[in-house]
Amino acid sequence: MDWGMRNRLSGIMRPDTGRCVMLAIDHGYFQGPTTGLERPGETVAPLLDHADALMLTRGVLRSAIDPGRRVPIVLRVSGGTSILKDDLSDEDLTVSIEDAIRLNASALALSIFVGGPHEKETLTNLARLCDDGLRYGIPVLAVTAVGKEMARDARYLGLATRIAAELGAQIVKTYFCEGFEKVVGGCPVPIVIAGGKKIEEREALTLAYSAVSAGASGVDMGRNIFQSKWPAQMIQAVRRIVQDGQTDAEAWEWFQASIGK
Ligand code: R5P
Repeated sequence: MDWGMRNRLSGIMRPDTGRCVMLAIDHGYFQGPTTGLERPGETVAPLLDHADALMLTRGVLRSAIDPGRRVPIVLRVSGGTSILKDDLSDEDLTVSIEDAIRLNASALALSIFVGGPHEKETLTNLARLCDDGLRYGIPVLAVTAVGKEMARDARYLGLATRIAAELGAQIVKTYFCEGFEKVVGGCPVPIVIAGGKKIEEREALTLAYSAVSAGASGVDMGRNIFQSKWPAQMIQAVRRIVQDGQTDAEAWEWFQASIGK
């Protein structure tokens, strides 16, 4: 791996822990103005000091994020569908490598839909993106997107994450599931977990703790942070688990004290 690639990766995954708290705010690329992200610049401003990386689209990056903020950017470069369609797997690449370089992206993110109607296109798009990334020293984060009908179990997620790594992704984002150790064990590159739909703060902290305890290299979490009534406290509590080695119970105690409960 060349110097540029390693340097970008170490900006995302803290070198001393090998872990990452990535804040995901890319939901609008197919969901439009997601609850909590109507004005993304205002939502993320108080959170960025606590994030190791920020995952978003180029449109929100250019329009809402101060270029003076020193936060590594994980740029969403796949899309082309919306929630109005039944089949969300019909994605293509939506950003050129030149624009990603212009934006100083630390990584490129793309969804793959293993088992979906457009499985092949999303996988070959991943392979092409990895070639572009390798050419310029930019890592690729593959998102294992799950179709409405698909089970989020260790067998399926183990298959999807391994394929992503085999095709060249340097980081894989997936969902936590029972038997997650098997998913991590079968994937030769770091895995981060998505938070998924908003759940109670206590549960979301347990999710983060269970994932890192089972070998995840951190989180790429969105709604469970920015849809919380206490987003700044929530991202700091998650950070305590991922980067400071606290248990979910310890982080929950801190969270409650910090919101005055
Ligand atoms: C999907 O819309 C995006 O890739 C999100 O970044 C991903 O699902 C993580 O966000 P959340 O924690 O809200 O699931």
